[in-house]
Amino acid sequence: MIKLDRRELIASLGGFAAVALMSHEARADALEHYMEQKLYAQAEGGGAGSSAAAFPSAAEVKAQITTRHYRRGVGGLFVSTDAAGKMTMLDEMPAKPTLVDFFEKRFMQFSNHCLQSANKARERGAADEIVLACLLHDTVQSLMRVDHGYYGAQMYEPYVPEITSWAIRYHQPLRFFADEQAGYTYPDLYRRMYGFDYVPPPHVQAAHDMTKKHKWYYAAREVTVSDLYAFDPDAVVSLDSFRDLIDKYFKQPAEGLGFDNSPSAHMWRSLMFPDSPL
Ligand SMILES: [Fe+2]
Ligand SMILES: [Fe+2]
Repeated sequence: MIKLDRRELIASLGGFAAVALMSHEARADALEHYMEQKLYAQAEGGGAGSSAAAFPSAAEVKAQITTRHYRRGVGGLFVSTDAAGKMTMLDEMPAKPTLVDFFEKRFMQFSNHCLQSANKARERGAADEIVLACLLHDTVQSLMRVDHGYYGAQMYEPYVPEITSWAIRYHQPLRFFADEQAGYTYPDLYRRMYGFDYVPPPHVQAAHDMTKKHKWYYAAREVTVSDLYAFDPDAVVSLDSFRDLIDKYFKQPAEGLGFDNSPSAHMWRSLMFPDSPL
C-alpha cells in the first residue's frame, strides 16, 4: 500500500497557491503521477522522492493495469476526478453548439493545454492552419485518449482544412520519434507513461516512416514541437486570441456540432451526452 504524504505532494506541485490554481483534473493527474513515483521508489527500494529521475520499465507499466479501476485509454470525461471518486455534473450544452461551447464545457483539462500549444506555435511563426491544428490537437482526449490523433483527425475532418486534420492525426505517432533538427526531443513524460525501454509497435513506426516522407511532415512535426507539458499556472491563454482563427478556418455547421449529419456528428454528440447509457 502506498502512503500519501500530503505535505510532500503539495510541495512537489509548488505549494498551496499553485495547487489552488489547478483544475480538479490537473490535481487528479498530479496525484496519479505522484503515486506512481512513490510506487517506483518502493519497487526500487528508494526513499520518498528518491525516484524523481527514475522511470519505470515497460513491464512495470504493464503490471500497473490491474491496480487501476479504469483503463488509461478512456476519455477524460468518463473518469472521475473527484476526490470521492464520483462524477461531477456537466454544464448543459446550447441547442446549436459551437466549437467554442465544446472548449468551454467539454474539453476540460485538455483545453488549456491546447491553448498553450497554439500560442507557442503562433509565437514560432507557424501558418494559421497549423496553429489551428495545435489548438485542436488533444481536445478529443475528453472523448478518447487511446489513438487520439486518429480520433481527433476524424472528428475534425469535416470542418477544417485538410492539412490541419492531417497534422492532428500524425502528431500522435511522431511524438514517439525525436527530430533534433526540428527541435523535438523524446519526452520524459513518455518514459514515465510507457516505460524507458518501450519500443513503439510496427504500425506506429510505419506511420512515422510514411509521415517523414510526406510533404506535410513539417505540419505534424510542428504540433509535436509546440506540444507543452510543463505545468505553468501563470500561462493561462484565453480562447479569445483564437476566435479570428476559428471564424476563418473552422466550418461551423448552422445546425450545431452533433446535429449536422456529418460523418463525425456522433463523436460530438458523445462529448455532449457522455452520461447516456447507450
Ligand atoms: Fe497528443
Ligand atoms: Fe498535446
